[in-house]
Amino acid sequence: MDQMSQTAKVILDGNTYELPIVIGTEGEKGIDISTLRSISNYVTFDHGFGNTSNCESAITYLDGEAGILRYRGYPIEQLGESSSFVETSYLLIHGELPTPAQLGDFSDLLGEHSMLHEDMKNLFNGFPSSAHPMAILASMVCSLSAYYPGIDMLNPVKEDFDRIVAMLISKVRTISAFAYKKSIGEPFVYPRQDLEYIPNFLNMMFSSPTRSYKIYDEVVQALKVLLILHADHEQNCSTSSVRLVGSSWANLYASITAGICALWGPLHGGANEAVIEMLEMIHKDGGDVDKHISLAKDKSNRVRLMGFGHRVYKSYDPRAKIIKASAHDLLNKLGINDPLLEIAVKMEEKVLNDPYFIERNLYPNVDFYSGIIYKAIGIPMRMFTVMFAIGRLPGWIAHWKEMMESPSARIGRPRQIYTGSRKRDYVPIIRR
Ligand code: CMC
Repeated sequence: MDQMSQTAKVILDGNTYELPIVIGTEGEKGIDISTLRSISNYVTFDHGFGNTSNCESAITYLDGEAGILRYRGYPIEQLGESSSFVETSYLLIHGELPTPAQLGDFSDLLGEHSMLHEDMKNLFNGFPSSAHPMAILASMVCSLSAYYPGIDMLNPVKEDFDRIVAMLISKVRTISAFAYKKSIGEPFVYPRQDLEYIPNFLNMMFSSPTRSYKIYDEVVQALKVLLILHADHEQNCSTSSVRLVGSSWANLYASITAGICALWGPLHGGANEAVIEMLEMIHKDGGDVDKHISLAKDKSNRVRLMGFGHRVYKSYDPRAKIIKASAHDLLNKLGINDPLLEIAVKMEEKVLNDPYFIERNLYPNVDFYSGIIYKAIGIPMRMFTVMFAIGRLPGWIAHWKEMMESPSARIGRPRQIYTGSRKRDYVPIIRR
C-alpha cells in the first residue's frame, strides 16, 4: 500500500494497477477495487464478506479489537445509561440528537401510528397458534405495504419518510405483542396513547381484559438498555440484507422484512433463543458445562457455543459486558434466582480460560446474557429474536435511508467465481 499518494498498487500478470485508498474518519483504510475488473479482468474473492466494505457509512463506529461501539459518535455506554430508545432511534435515523421539540414530534408520531389496520387481524387469524412469532412478524411487516402507502422512490418527500418511519417503529411493537397474544390464544390488547414506548409494549404483552399488568421501572430500564444496545451494529447480516434488498429500490417494508428474515437465523439474532435452549439443556443434564464446551470444540459435529464468537469482535463485546451487569442487577432487584445465570457465568469463566476459545478470540456476544433478562421479565423464549428485531429496527431504517440518500449507491450485485461444468451439449432424454 502506498501511504504517501493514498493508492494501493496491485500487480497482476506482471501489470501494475493503482487503486485508490478510502480512509474513514476513525482512520480505517480500504482499497477501492470497484474498477479492478474493468481494468484487469480480476474480481476479488471474499467468503462471507469478511474483508469487504460495501459502503461508506456515518451511522455506527465499531472497533472489534478495542471493544468500542458508538452510534453517530456517541458511546453506547452513555446512550444506554442516559438516553431513551426513542431518542436513540431518532439519533440513528436523523444523525443528530433531537431537540426537545423534535423528540416531542417524533413521540407524537409514534403514538399516532401505533394501531394496526383492523383488517390485518384477519391475517393474524390465519396463522396456526404454533407459528413462530418471527414468521408472523416478517409476514406482517411485509403486509404493511399492502395497507399503508409507501415512499415515492422517484420523488421522496421528507414528510412521507418521517411518517412511514414512525409507523414502522410503532407498528412493529404492536405486531410483536399481537404475535405473542396470538401464540397464547389471548385477545389482542390495543396500544395506549398515554403510555411511553416500552411501557406500552409491556402492557400490550402482559395485560388482558381480566388482568392489569403492573409496570415496574426496573423492568422498563432493563428493556430500554437492551433495545438501545441492539439498535445498530453496522454492516451485520440483517442490515446488509436490508441494504441489498433496498438497493433494488424495493419499498422500505419489504427491505425491513428481509432484515427480519436474516436476523432469525441462530448464527445471528436467533442466537438469543438458542443460548437459553442450550443453558436449559445443560441445566436439565445436571449442569455439566464442560461436556457442552467439549462438544462445541469437537469439529466432527456442528455444535457451537451459542452466544460466543463474533465476526468483528476479537475482544469482549462491549454490549455483552453491559448486559451481563444488567442481568445480575435486574435479577437482584426482582428477587429472582435463575440457575441459568449461574450456568452462564460458569460457562463464561471456563471459556475465557480455554485455549481453544483464547486462540480464536471467542468471547460472549450480545446474545449470551440477553435471554436471561427477557426470561426474568416474563418474555417467552420464542419472542427473544422478535425483541432483537424491535431493537434493531431503527438501525435498519437508518441504513436504508443513508443508502437511498447516497449519490454513489448502486444496486447490490456481487460477482462469483464460477466452478460448475464447462460447456457441454444437451442430450434429450430418449422417451420410450
Ligand atoms: N463455538 C465454537 N467454536 C466457534 C464458535 C462458537 N460459538 N464461534 C466460532 N468458532 C470457531 C469456528 O469453528 C472456527 O474454528 P476453526 O478456525 O477451527 O475452523 C473459528 O472459531 C472461527 O469461526 P468462524 O465461523 O470463521 O467465525 P465467523 O466470523 O464466520 O462467525 C459467528 C461468527 C458469530 C457466526 C460464530 O462465532 C458463531 O457461530 N457463534 C455462535 C452463534 C452466535 O452466538 N451468534 C450471535 C452473534 S452476535 C449477534 C449478531 O450480531 O449477530
